[in-house]
Amino acid sequence: MAVLRPASTEEVSEAVKICAEHGVAIVPQGGNTNVCGMTLASRDAVILNLSRMNQIIEVDREGGTITVEAGATMQAVQEAATEAGLLFAPDWGARGSAQVGGAVATNGGGLNVIGYGTTREQVMGLEAVLADGRIWNGMRHHIKDNSGYDLKQLLIGSEGTLGIITRLVFRLHPAPSHRISMMAVLTSTDRLMDALALARQTAGDQLVAFELMNGLGVELALERYPDLKRPFETRADWYVLIQLAGGPTVTEAMEQIFSDGFEQEIFSDGVLANSIAQERNLWEIREQLIPIQYFDCPFAKWDVSVPVSRIMEYLHRARDIASDVDPELVCYAVGHVGDGNIHYNIFLQGRSEAEAERIIPELIRRIDDLIAEMGGSITAEHGVGTAYIERVRRLKSGVEYELMLKLRELFDPNGILNPGKLLPRKG
Ligand code: MLT
Ligand code: ZN
Repeated sequence: MAVLRPASTEEVSEAVKICAEHGVAIVPQGGNTNVCGMTLASRDAVILNLSRMNQIIEVDREGGTITVEAGATMQAVQEAATEAGLLFAPDWGARGSAQVGGAVATNGGGLNVIGYGTTREQVMGLEAVLADGRIWNGMRHHIKDNSGYDLKQLLIGSEGTLGIITRLVFRLHPAPSHRISMMAVLTSTDRLMDALALARQTAGDQLVAFELMNGLGVELALERYPDLKRPFETRADWYVLIQLAGGPTVTEAMEQIFSDGFEQEIFSDGVLANSIAQERNLWEIREQLIPIQYFDCPFAKWDVSVPVSRIMEYLHRARDIASDVDPELVCYAVGHVGDGNIHYNIFLQGRSEAEAERIIPELIRRIDDLIAEMGGSITAEHGVGTAYIERVRRLKSGVEYELMLKLRELFDPNGILNPGKLLPRKG
């Protein structure tokens, strides 16, 4: 119906009170970079866009915290932290548009979870406007607080269904003085875990990212974006991209990983980035591996989490299911192997809409079941939104789902906050 653009928590509160009085649905919107339909608005809803609330309120160097409004972009918060000699950890390709309020509301993961944890782990305090317009001030700057339930944890990852996050206190980390990345060709997919173990053993907690990239995606990215440079001549099915951050010893540690990787026949080709531009090039290739820009055909998708040691097993078994359903399907995997999270898409190139209507539900059911059997999650870091709503409902236990419904009922009895996202619309 309308887009509201409040400039303060009080204005958010006023807007929510008016909507609550008239039973109008509200869709909170940050940078609109989510990939699960979380900010889609039906015709009977208003969008509440947080982008005017973009102030960096305070950086506390001694305490290692940053206080910001929810509409600040991730990049703005990263830059403010860097200026103070500290590091704001959450990071992913959409950093220039994604807002921290949305990052927290979706508990985004991103490229360096292995090093610093998820967004949830960075939040020390938050403020939110509740469904009746009341403001809850949980802007705490301390780590320890056992004075009751940790309510902020409920708001984190609630996708705007329990409250609208308006301000945040984040923990900051010491900024690493050195950073280095390498990209390498895996001699065989069976060596993926050996590569991860080697990086872990050699670099310890200096290992901040360990990504798996598929060869098809790398070729498509290099073709589409001529500014990207091919890192080395070998074309392969699978690559790993590793980043270390910390003190001056990271260079030596990475050189060790590089040479041991060749000696142990884990890598067959690779490059150690020895300039900022070279490192940026490797990460830009990775950030352009989002497949949706390269395929114009029906697809099914998963944002899979399985135990790290079972990632290759998952990829083999999912591929077998796909071949069984239709041998021509294109399987596309990329993601954060270091924390057990793979973005997995299956594209139905050359298949008609009618064929897709038959094939996609079967793929989804069989691969969702595989992930459940492996003890994993079908949506690890992207959230539920509208995209996974029915699939999540099918897989969650009755007890867990009932508790989720009861929590929503408690926070938002009239179901006006982001209805039809994460949980089915009420009524
Ligand atoms: C990524 O890791 O590239 C992001 O989660 C984005 C995506 O999968 O679309
Ligand atoms: Zn991701």
